[in-house]
Amino acid sequence: MKRNLVRRNFLKTGAGAAALSFTLARPEWVFGAAANSKLEIGIIGSGGRGKWIANLFEQHGGYKVVACADYFQERVDDLGEKYGVEPTRRHTGLSGYKKLLESKLDAVAIESPPCFHPEQAAAAVAAGKHAFVAKPIAVDVPGCQSIEASGKAATAKKLAFLIDFQSRTDPFFIEAVGRVRQGEIGKIVSGQAAYLTGRLGLHAEPGSPEARLKNWVFDKALSGDIITEQNIHALDIATWILDAAPLCAVGRGGRKLRVDVGDCWDHFEVIFDFPEDIVLSFHSKQCGRGADDIMARVYGETGTIDAHYGGVVNIKGDKPYEGGETKGIFTDGAVRNIATFHESITKGDFSNPTVAPSVRSNLTTILGRTAAYTGKEVTWEEMMRTGEELDLQLEGLAG
Ligand SMILES: NC(=O)c1ccc[n+]([C@@H]2O[C@H](COP(=O)([O-])OP(=O)(O)OC[C@H]3O[C@@H](n4cnc5c(N)ncnc54)[C@H](O)[C@@H]3O)[C@@H](O)[C@H]2O)c1
Repeated sequence: MKRNLVRRNFLKTGAGAAALSFTLARPEWVFGAAANSKLEIGIIGSGGRGKWIANLFEQHGGYKVVACADYFQERVDDLGEKYGVEPTRRHTGLSGYKKLLESKLDAVAIESPPCFHPEQAAAAVAAGKHAFVAKPIAVDVPGCQSIEASGKAATAKKLAFLIDFQSRTDPFFIEAVGRVRQGEIGKIVSGQAAYLTGRLGLHAEPGSPEARLKNWVFDKALSGDIITEQNIHALDIATWILDAAPLCAVGRGGRKLRVDVGDCWDHFEVIFDFPEDIVLSFHSKQCGRGADDIMARVYGETGTIDAHYGGVVNIKGDKPYEGGETKGIFTDGAVRNIATFHESITKGDFSNPTVAPSVRSNLTTILGRTAAYTGKEVTWEEMMRTGEELDLQLEGLAG
């Protein structure tokens, strides 16, 4: 309860993002003068992706992992041992990231459960650290607004702030979407998007607050549900191709098979209305086997863009584009984002272009989720006006 109040006040006042104290980290990075030194980075969230991405930061050659934070001691020790992080720089508990931010480092990678991204990103910017943030940026509307404010505050403070979506870095995706923008599939009629996959494994036997945190991916409030946490990749591609946010949505879905843990649904079906009478149908399942895919396809008057995360990206029609396979996108995209983040910092480009499209696609997932939960048509305007905040229910966890 206390924790939720803190979070609510944080989101309401915009503390951390709007009312920032000005501290510029390592001004020499701005001018690219420190060519021989490495950026010192801290990892917030030392679980699966945190540990995996720490390796990619080290492999880049321009970073040194110097600190880490996680709720659990064993997670920071695991990551810490692997990358030589001193025990005094391994921070635990829900607020351990604050101690990490007080220490001497240039940047952070935020790899914690999505519900914590807004407060951690705002605190990072307030502390003068460059922020590399895993998707999704947030689980609710106030969280998305907070990330938007943090992105702007970062730019004002000459800090890099990058959201790690992989498809927007891929050359085939970039070329194909560019061609659609140039009118190569003609007037856009409609589209579809899908995230179809099997169920995920348990991280802990359910039954305690700690187990719930370990199983955050099955928890609506901690993850934003599968439509926000996982399916966002497909809806991010769709909103990128259409270069628009939906006006309204109707949806259905439920929880049929995966009922042994958490409260997330295991399937969603949503119809989104976009400007210019463009309708997008969206399908999602996180259960069963077969037909797995992460895709968006948009149909135009003279052609179709067919874009699959981890599969083929092309355009068929009057002006075809052969495109190619994006098999390595999961790693390649993160590697490219890590390189871009480094370049932004060392060359002083703080325009932070990944923030706006990430806010848009994140809100799109929340619109679809709200429509499906309520069973009613929900407009974008209504969703923004209501500004529903999810209750994280963090009682029983160490602060
Ligand atoms: N392709 C992708 O872009 C991709 C793939 C996988 C995961 N992700 C994202 O990466 C993030 C982490 O996912 P994961 O798969 O590593 O999950 P994970 O559960 O393996 O790791 C998350 C870690 O965060 C820790 N944590 C919990 N509360 C914390 C807090 N308050 N402060 C710091 N750490 C805290 C957990 O204990 C856990 O160790 C999520 O946002 C997820 O959506 C992105």
